[in-house]
Amino acid sequence: MCCLHGRTFLLLLLQSLVAALVFAQGSNAASVWPTLSGNPPLVIARGGFSGLFPDSSAIAYNLALAVSVPDVILWCDVQLTKDGVGICAPDVRLDNSTDIATIFKGRKKVYLVNGTPTPGWFSVDFTFNELFNNVVLTQGVYSRTNKFDGSGFLILTVQDVVNITKPPGFWLNIQHDAFFTQHNLSMRSFVLSVSRSVVVNYISSPEVSFLRSIVTRFSPKVTKLVFRFLGKEDIEPSTNQTYDSLLKNLTFIKTFASGILVPKAYIWPVDVTLYLEPHTSVVVDAHKVGLEVFASDFANDVPSSYNYSYDPVSEYLAFIDTDFSVDGVLSDFPITPSEAIDCFSHLPKNASAQVKTLVISKYGASGDYPGCTDVAYAKAIKDGVDVIDCPVQLSKDGIPICLSSINLIDSTNVAQTNYSSLTTNIPEIKAGSGIYTFSLTWSQIQSLTPAISNPFSNYRLFRNPRAKTEGKFLTLLDFLALSKNSSSLTGVLISIEYAPYLAEDQRLSVTDAVIDALSKAGYDTQTSLKVMIQSTNSSVLLKFKDKTKYELVYKVDENIRDALDSTVEEIKTFASSVVVGKDSVFPENQAFLTGVTDTVSKLQSFKLPVYVETFSNEFVSQAWDFFSDSTVEINSYVMGANVNGVITDFPKTAARYKRNRCLGLGSQTPPYMSPVQPGSLMQVISPSYMPPAEAPNPVLDNADVVEPPLPGISAEAPGPSGSTGVAPKTPNGQPKLSSTFFLPYLAILLAAIFLV
Ligand SMILES: *[C@@H]1O[C@H](CO)[C@@H](O)[C@H](O)[C@H]1NC(C)=O
Ligand SMILES: *[C@@H]1O[C@H](CO)[C@@H](O)[C@H](O)[C@H]1NC(C)=O
Ligand SMILES: *[C@@H]1O[C@H](CO)[C@@H](O)[C@H](O)[C@H]1NC(C)=O
Ligand SMILES: *[C@@H]1O[C@H](CO)[C@@H](O)[C@H](O)[C@H]1NC(C)=O
Ligand SMILES: *[C@@H]1O[C@H](CO)[C@@H](O)[C@H](O)[C@H]1NC(C)=O
Ligand SMILES: *[C@@H]1O[C@H](CO)[C@@H](O)[C@H](O)[C@H]1NC(C)=O
Ligand SMILES: *[C@@H]1O[C@H](CO)[C@@H](O)[C@H](O)[C@H]1NC(C)=O
Ligand SMILES: *[C@@H]1O[C@H](CO)[C@@H](O)[C@H](O)[C@H]1NC(C)=O
Ligand SMILES: *[C@@H]1O[C@H](CO)[C@@H](O)[C@H](O)[C@H]1NC(C)=O
Ligand SMILES: *[C@@H]1O[C@H](CO)[C@@H](O)[C@H](O)[C@H]1NC(C)=O
Repeated sequence: MCCLHGRTFLLLLLQSLVAALVFAQGSNAASVWPTLSGNPPLVIARGGFSGLFPDSSAIAYNLALAVSVPDVILWCDVQLTKDGVGICAPDVRLDNSTDIATIFKGRKKVYLVNGTPTPGWFSVDFTFNELFNNVVLTQGVYSRTNKFDGSGFLILTVQDVVNITKPPGFWLNIQHDAFFTQHNLSMRSFVLSVSRSVVVNYISSPEVSFLRSIVTRFSPKVTKLVFRFLGKEDIEPSTNQTYDSLLKNLTFIKTFASGILVPKAYIWPVDVTLYLEPHTSVVVDAHKVGLEVFASDFANDVPSSYNYSYDPVSEYLAFIDTDFSVDGVLSDFPITPSEAIDCFSHLPKNASAQVKTLVISKYGASGDYPGCTDVAYAKAIKDGVDVIDCPVQLSKDGIPICLSSINLIDSTNVAQTNYSSLTTNIPEIKAGSGIYTFSLTWSQIQSLTPAISNPFSNYRLFRNPRAKTEGKFLTLLDFLALSKNSSSLTGVLISIEYAPYLAEDQRLSVTDAVIDALSKAGYDTQTSLKVMIQSTNSSVLLKFKDKTKYELVYKVDENIRDALDSTVEEIKTFASSVVVGKDSVFPENQAFLTGVTDTVSKLQSFKLPVYVETFSNEFVSQAWDFFSDSTVEINSYVMGANVNGVITDFPKTAARYKRNRCLGLGSQTPPYMSPVQPGSLMQVISPSYMPPAEAPNPVLDNADVVEPPLPGISAEAPGPSGSTGVAPKTPNGQPKLSSTFFLPYLAILLAAIFLV
């Protein structure tokens, strides 16, 4: 049967392009793993890179090959069509992974699947040609982008997948042998026949009878059989036992399988509040009887436990880099286990940084604890941050303190206390009302309970609920003492906002308070710590101009795509480095990167280091291009855009990134530690699914940065503010690609597939 038409040539060409790229694995290959074989654990890509592209599509399989370890295993869930053709699709029902429900509207059926009446469009009701000629693959997981649903990816046969991808390893999962038997289709015949023409390395099934029916026909040297465990209380149909009881009978499993595939919670159970319990002995027990252990259900965009702080690399490391290791992980995002295994596992505690990029905290480790508390700072330091930050606010009694916001409602329980009577409207600070730090004394503020920040609560993603009120707030002096006491920090960053308002309306000089605290804490004379003073207002930085030891950091508080030369010259008169937002480097449209701006190269050409904010672990904060992997995002800004520092509420991720062993390998850099190519993913979107183009960000000009001098605290209110004369910004075209070195493989890959 012919299935590939004219696509074959292009896809094979593409495959050879991908294969031509020689990727070195890090030096880790030599180390001994506590896997059954002693080899590194395997990366198994479920339906290809199904976390991004439609499950089981050619592009998903090719992307998995392009960005994973060289020996990645491609996983195909086999379903049979009415005419007995084996196709790859994640479920017996095709309505969740294709557009079949809109194409064959009247052909929905209800069948018993494992005893449960199940409605849907089943593969057994359609011939292969009906499917191939009419139906396209779509994204079945609704939290993932559907922008590729119009790109026309076709259903593939098991043979097609091998022909297209020439996989280094191939895994067939037979989820429902009994169901196909009821429909007079033989999965056994199919599997035996396909294995005569292609190499199948693994066959898994949750049905004991199926594996036992083929065990004598396969040599474990070529094809390993793997028993798949479902939910602990689910009944295995051929033994009529629960999977939980089968787990206690591993010697029985060993009689027909050489490995087991278990949901990850079999190994690291999670309690009802989503915190990890101690690990079980499943891996060690199975290894004892000679069974390999594979763990399933890994996905970067499905939060699994608060213990991992939304960082998927941390989760993989828990399965491969403790006193045990699983033999493989089944993932929808195979780039992440690839980097975890090859770049991050077995890193010595004293591994040194491979890149100079500064890791600057955002309110301490505020992804794990309430921002700007002692526990948030302690965690940041423990996690290896370079610079901790204190956003200075003033209390009513003029004490400089560290708090993420001038509005106490943002970071404390003040709204639930009797201080809520201090609610005021101050349009100079923000529209609407607030309870401001300068309305409470320091001792009143100390009596408040800190509150963890939940910037992604709209997505029902919450931060470390068990610690949501932990910690104590600090004065700037406390903060400076704590920093000085830490041997691992290279500096502190003190940010100052609302200085003009505080001076004019509250008669408080925040700049004087900071200068005074720094001097009292001995930072003028007796510390090697770098002091960074940050503000969005140049007039604030000018007040520190004569403090030549300090690095003055200008924060650009809007998204820009470039800056005028004369404006950068102007910035140099009051600052020696700049902070910009992520969008000013890689602009995005509906979470797709559209390109790279001139911002970093322009500022750096004037010798201004550029720090970028804010890097968070939660995948919803990242463009799709970064594969829902915070390490890929950071690496792309560091290696792709060459930024000098990252500002992050999860310093652990960035600090660990700096020490990984896949950096500094030059042309040998593996794909999973290469920067993504901004704009390439968008090329895969068909025109009707393309988000409407957005106007490019403006170019930073002098009117944006020049400000009148900061008023003294006793001065009369001056006239209207100087920023009223801002010139209208005239966008003049899309951001263009800078000459930084992006690996072109992804663009080639994606563009080529799009043509197919
Ligand atoms: C589609 O499949 C995904 C992943 O298996 C599942 O989470 C989702 O609930 C399914 N949707 C429907 C409508 O069956
Ligand atoms: C797979 O490719 C081989 C040659 O490379 C060809 O003979 C075979 O027909 C192809 N199979 C399918 C199902 O396209
Ligand atoms: C399977 O075959 C049997 C015997 O030939 C027949 O009675 C039955 O209807 C078939 N079932 C289906 C679902 O086609
Ligand atoms: C399976 O076990 C249950 C209870 O243990 C029993 O009621 C049922 O009859 C058994 N079914 C089969 C097919 O053996
Ligand atoms: C293991 O399972 C087999 C098959 O169900 C059964 O015959 C045997 O008694 C079980 N052994 C134990 C120790 O449960
Ligand atoms: C997970 O985090 C909770 C809360 O911090 C802690 O009590 C628990 O021990 C952690 N679990 C593991 C396995 O480390
Ligand atoms: C790390 O420690 C080991 C021994 O504990 C030592 O051999 C190695 O040189 C150290 N590496 C660095 C980079 O300090
Ligand atoms: C709030 O209550 C405390 C005692 O619980 C009291 O000392 C304080 O003055 C009150 N504050 C205000 C603003 O009413
Ligand atoms: C300084 O560090 C020591 C131990 O590392 C600790 O005992 C002490 O409390 C710290 N002091 C401050 C001010 O944090
Ligand atoms: C910056 O500070 C000056 C006072 O020094 C003030 O007039 C101006 O409005 C401030 N600019 C912004 C954008 O807040």
